[in-house]
Amino acid sequence: MQISVNTASRSYPVFLDSGSALGLGAYLNEKFKNRRCCLVTNTTLASIYSSYINTLKEETGCVIHTAPDGEKYKTIATWSEILDTLISARLDRSSYIVAFGGGVLGDMAGFAAASFMRGIDYIQVPTTLLSMVDSSVGGKTAVDHPMGKNLIGAFHQPSAVWIDIDFLKKLPSRQFVAGYAEMFKYAFIGGSGMFTFIMNNRDAILRSEPKQLMESIEKSIRVKADIVGRDEKESGSRALLNFGHTFAHALEQFYGFEGLLHGEAVLWGMVCAVDLAKRKGTLPRSCWTAFDRIMDGLPLPALPSVPDAGKVYEAMFADKKVSSGKLRFVLPCAEGESVVVNGARESEVMAALEKIGEL
Ligand code: NAD
Ligand code: GLY
Repeated sequence: MQISVNTASRSYPVFLDSGSALGLGAYLNEKFKNRRCCLVTNTTLASIYSSYINTLKEETGCVIHTAPDGEKYKTIATWSEILDTLISARLDRSSYIVAFGGGVLGDMAGFAAASFMRGIDYIQVPTTLLSMVDSSVGGKTAVDHPMGKNLIGAFHQPSAVWIDIDFLKKLPSRQFVAGYAEMFKYAFIGGSGMFTFIMNNRDAILRSEPKQLMESIEKSIRVKADIVGRDEKESGSRALLNFGHTFAHALEQFYGFEGLLHGEAVLWGMVCAVDLAKRKGTLPRSCWTAFDRIMDGLPLPALPSVPDAGKVYEAMFADKKVSSGKLRFVLPCAEGESVVVNGARESEVMAALEKIGEL
């Protein structure tokens, strides 16, 4: 199956299938005829998929760069090592990168592609659920800075995204849950059809039933493609993709970026966003039952400890999404629809945060 992403800077295909991994080499050879390539991956994938990577190497003649695994290595130092490999292997402006891994790897390899020789082509080959439904599409590339996540980066769209959902077979279950978070967020921003689809299929998706899993990944990508097609550089509606994220980033910071994966924090952030929407009145009462149905049964992970609502509230002000000292929230207003809201009373936000301790 092919989904088109059409942004102002570039249009490209997302190929979504099961069992398509072995077709990638032939696709690359045809698309990038006689152009040199570097496959960037990490130590975990290099070990799990060593024979697959070797096959790709034989087919395309690519150079391999293996980065350390983990968000803590999503740094300028690791990005710089990728560039060292590209330069040492004498890759040039016509060369391209294959980013083989989850969101951390894809963001970093994408940023290397954005900056090497002022920008070369790259292909995203996402291997986590989160990267399939979110990070591989839309061209946000970045590395972290000690003072904040994704503070250094560029918008640089890939030339294609190649998704084989069979890669998920070896994904640890905790990482799966993190991916569901970014998938379920589309229920709140992707229109009433997406809302109903997630509401009716949530349990089958959580059981990874192949038909529902494939359909939910496809629908998620379509929602994301539509949003980034309308607002590539987040001057407007792309902010909706941050549903639940104002709370999530503060929770991640509260727990010191350890103990809670980003997606896990997003699940809790969505609970808080729905609660705040009820308190602020953006979500009419007539919608509450449907929203309660969708929220009940979310795979909420255990928190390392009950969060201190006051400290989490303070942490919110350190986020990129603060504008002129006001917190910015994406809050639901109807089934499948949300609005960006600037500012909320401290008491309302605190009450939404305290809800976490009650669940
Ligand atoms: P991740 O990349 O850290 O991957 C999670 C873990 O799973 C890693 O240990 C990885 O090595 C392992 N893994 C990956 N694929 C596997 C597979 N098929 N089998 C077994 N193990 C596998 O985490 P993630 O959730 O994919 O990505 C999170 C990152 O994505 C964050 O840095 C976040 O900032 C970024 N992100 C970016 C965007 C964007 O638009 N660019 C959107 C959302 C998130
Ligand atoms: N994941 C947020 C974005 O792509 O804008």
